[in-house]
Amino acid sequence: MSGIWNRVYQSDNTFFGDEQSQFATICLKHMKSNNVKKVLEIGAGHGRDTIFFATNGLEVDALDYSNIGIEIINKKAYEKKLPVKSQLFDVKKPLPFKDACFDAVYSHMLLNMRFSQTELYSIFSEIRRILKPNGLNYFSVRNHNDKFYGTGVEVEEGIYDINGFEVRFFSEKETLDLIAKEGFNMLWMKEEYEEPVTLYLVAAIKHKIN
Ligand SMILES: C[S@@+](CC[C@H](N)C(=O)[O-])C[C@H]1O[C@@H](n2cnc3c(N)ncnc32)[C@H](O)[C@@H]1O
Repeated sequence: MSGIWNRVYQSDNTFFGDEQSQFATICLKHMKSNNVKKVLEIGAGHGRDTIFFATNGLEVDALDYSNIGIEIINKKAYEKKLPVKSQLFDVKKPLPFKDACFDAVYSHMLLNMRFSQTELYSIFSEIRRILKPNGLNYFSVRNHNDKFYGTGVEVEEGIYDINGFEVRFFSEKETLDLIAKEGFNMLWMKEEYEEPVTLYLVAAIKHKIN
């Protein structure tokens, strides 16, 4: 349900701030040194990172299931004349792109939303499908050092309602398993506090499956 995110963005169209996230800054540097030109952002929200990547010369596609978020992104991209294509889309469905067409896929705090383990694996498999050989998968997830971990009410296995937001908190092993089982090698993994959450920031590379 996109309901809560529509309400959030309706009441504050810069809920996550006007500036890009720290994660996006780290990833852009890595993308530039790895010749990334075409990126898909999933769970793009109101587009703080989408707009940052496009402003810095990348061609960006953005997906989110909040129509208000997508409207905000479209408006900003139009005003700034940026090469952004955004679509209202639920990433529980197969991604609406052909095989091997992106250099990188980026998601910030999307995968810790309400997805079952099966859904998470199928999202990763879809990311792998649309990435070019050696394509890069950048993602962040809230982790067990997050101050909200262990609070809230469990609404589904591993998913907690924290003040109306449904969140999964990842262990290091769960994060590494997701990467390894879906055909990626980890390049780096860091922990970072981004007020008010604690995250694993990860870059992984698509490898050949024999
Ligand atoms: C925590 S917010 C992060 C937004 C953005 N990445 C940022 O950091 O500014 C998570 C976003 O994921 C989107 N989202 C959650 N579940 C989704 C789904 N199944 N398909 C597409 N978007 C989804 C929400 O609408 C929300 O915009």
